Amino acid sequence: MRGTTLVSKGVIALLVAAFAGAALGCSPQGPSQESAGDRGQNQESAAQVVWSPDMDCTTCHTEEAATMEDGSMGACVHVQEAQTECSTCHVDSATLSEVHQDATATDVMPKKLKESSVEPATCQAAGCHDVSADDMLALTADVTELTDSQGTQVNPHEVMGLTAGHADILCSDCHSMHKAKANAADTCVSCHHAGVYECNTCH
Ligand code: HEC
Ligand code: HEC
Ligand code: HEC
Ligand code: HEC
Ligand code: HEC
Repeated sequence: MRGTTLVSKGVIALLVAAFAGAALGCSPQGPSQESAGDRGQNQESAAQVVWSPDMDCTTCHTEEAATMEDGSMGACVHVQEAQTECSTCHVDSATLSEVHQDATATDVMPKKLKESSVEPATCQAAGCHDVSADDMLALTADVTELTDSQGTQVNPHEVMGLTAGHADILCSDCHSMHKAKANAADTCVSCHHAGVYECNTCH
């Protein structure tokens, strides 16, 4: 896994700017942004926030915050290995500002991403998983779970670039951050409905 040493200066600068006083270990975005959170929490109905990437997200998004401290979750692994903050992964500030326009702490919190996404480019940013395609393939060279009913075996890390029909597959389709680990093979069946990793052979 990547360690702190691989986190680029740019990312560190971003993290420091975004979150002065980040603690090591699995702790969610914290105390230095209390004012925005307090506003959300204490003035329940009235408080609408102006969203910014360095605000305290945890007062509202308690479920995702909890996964930053739960060692079985991808989010926590990222906190431990790379001191990742919410806004390191959720980088689409323009969309997120819009999404949060009338948001208050008492709203129903989202169960999945609807307007924004965590793009592969964000996962592969400098200092993160910015490794070659060959190194990516090597990480999963021994994974055999993607084997179809005809015995065709696919390396999970070759899937994204395999064909045009795979253009929308994301790292997070297989690597959940706030949920229990996804089963990589489950991501195939939505399209390869016949249990065969091909198209155009039957119809
Ligand atoms: C005042 C409460 C509040 C705070 C603070 C807050 N959020 Fe949200 N957030 C919400 C609500 C409510 C929604 C759902 C909005 C909707 O669907 O209309 C939401 C939606 C989201 C979504 C889903 C976007 C999508 O694609 O649909 C993400 C991601 C998100 N927030 C991240 C963050 C991050 C990161 C922070 C901190 C930098 C943050 N939020 C701070 C209340 C909050
Ligand atoms: C089709 C499913 C799939 C996709 C898409 C995918 N992965 Fe993976 N990845 C796996 C599987 C399966 C493993 C084996 C270990 C595991 O089960 O987590 C793995 C392992 C890894 C590991 C090593 C984890 C460790 O503990 O050693 C890293 C890092 C990784 N993937 C990053 C990525 C990134 C970054 C992307 C997007 C560019 C990506 N993966 C896309 C399925 C996938
Ligand atoms: C390591 C990257 C990463 C970090 C750190 C991270 N997220 Fe996420 N987030 C994701 C991904 C990827 C998804 C898509 C669903 C998934 O993978 O669980 C997501 C989904 C979400 C959603 C949609 C609802 C859901 O749970 O699926 C919200 C809201 C959200 N994140 C908020 C946050 C907040 C708040 C923090 C900080 C406490 C945070 N995220 C930290 C990557 C991250
Ligand atoms: C969003 C739909 C979609 C998903 C999800 C998907 N595929 Fe595909 N796949 C396609 C389409 C469509 C083709 C046919 C070629 C094309 O049009 O791009 C294809 C072709 C393939 C091929 C044949 C490639 C070739 O060179 O002919 C393999 C192997 C494959 N997919 C494996 C997988 C595996 C393994 C998964 C799950 C990790 C997966 N696919 C998930 C849509 C999908
Ligand atoms: C092993 C054979 C087989 C393969 C391979 C296969 N399909 Fe199918 N597909 C079928 C059968 C059988 C049906 C059902 C046809 C029906 O009920 O009219 C079907 C139906 C569908 C339908 C619904 C069509 C309709 O009019 O309702 C879609 C869409 C579809 N397949 C897409 C795909 C895609 C995309 C792939 C590749 C990712 C694929 N199929 C691969 C056998 C296959």
